[in-house]
Amino acid sequence: MVSVRDLRAKAGEEPITMLTAYDAPTAELVDDAGVDVVLVGDSVGNAMLGYETTVPVSFDAIAHHTSAVARGVEDAMVVADMPFLSFGSDEATSVENAGTLLKETGCEAVKLECGPHTVDLTRRLVELGIPVMAHLGLTPQHVNQYGGFPRQGTDAESAERILDLAREHEDAGAFSLVLEHVPSNLAARVTETIDIPTIGIGAGPDCDGQVLVFHDAVGLSEWSPSFAKRFGDVRGEMESAVSSYVEAVESGSFPADEHSHEEAELDDLY
Ligand code: KIV
Repeated sequence: MVSVRDLRAKAGEEPITMLTAYDAPTAELVDDAGVDVVLVGDSVGNAMLGYETTVPVSFDAIAHHTSAVARGVEDAMVVADMPFLSFGSDEATSVENAGTLLKETGCEAVKLECGPHTVDLTRRLVELGIPVMAHLGLTPQHVNQYGGFPRQGTDAESAERILDLAREHEDAGAFSLVLEHVPSNLAARVTETIDIPTIGIGAGPDCDGQVLVFHDAVGLSEWSPSFAKRFGDVRGEMESAVSSYVEAVESGSFPADEHSHEEAELDDLY
């Protein structure tokens, strides 16, 4: 089982790999490929549940998908993403929700989309024994405030804010930091400034690790962001398999003899 300590030891020595998964068979496949961390991202909302954003994703949905992923994983660390408003409005509810994920789903850590409001919460969760992965840069739960999904940290002032928040979350005890959609020179600067591992998505090559949404990485998404790379064409394969099935049923070639069985004693039934 990959632990918080293993990840810290890997940082700067070997790249850390992280992918999302939302169900047991995918999690098993990702784990078997040797990925270090499986993230049950609130990207489940876009990738699996048909939402335009992650805002509608519920706490129960994350708990449900995290339990499935944990059942599929043997070696990787499983991290559950805390969905919009399941944390941050008050400390007691945030602690209770993070604790429920750890106690009831089989994950080993939670991820928080961070800002100034999550520094004290990170400290409290860590004090209580709940490992926290921080997330800075583009935090998609703020989509309505951003008015879209723009790059972050593109001027000196906002880059400085991200750097300060990275330090503050490290001091508060976060064990790693996701940096999303920020300039690669800012990500490099954050990575050399803090000691905890940085994991980038759209943040260039100098982070300690990389993360992608599974559907983008395997080529299953209809649309993917410019910073994602498709390493396969699973969507094309699925389309072709489903069309072949429809054709086979419509033409009568499926089911064939080898997919059917007869019982001789039933021949005289009528
Ligand atoms: O929800 C998610 O999948 C994420 C990753 C893209 C980091 O937050």
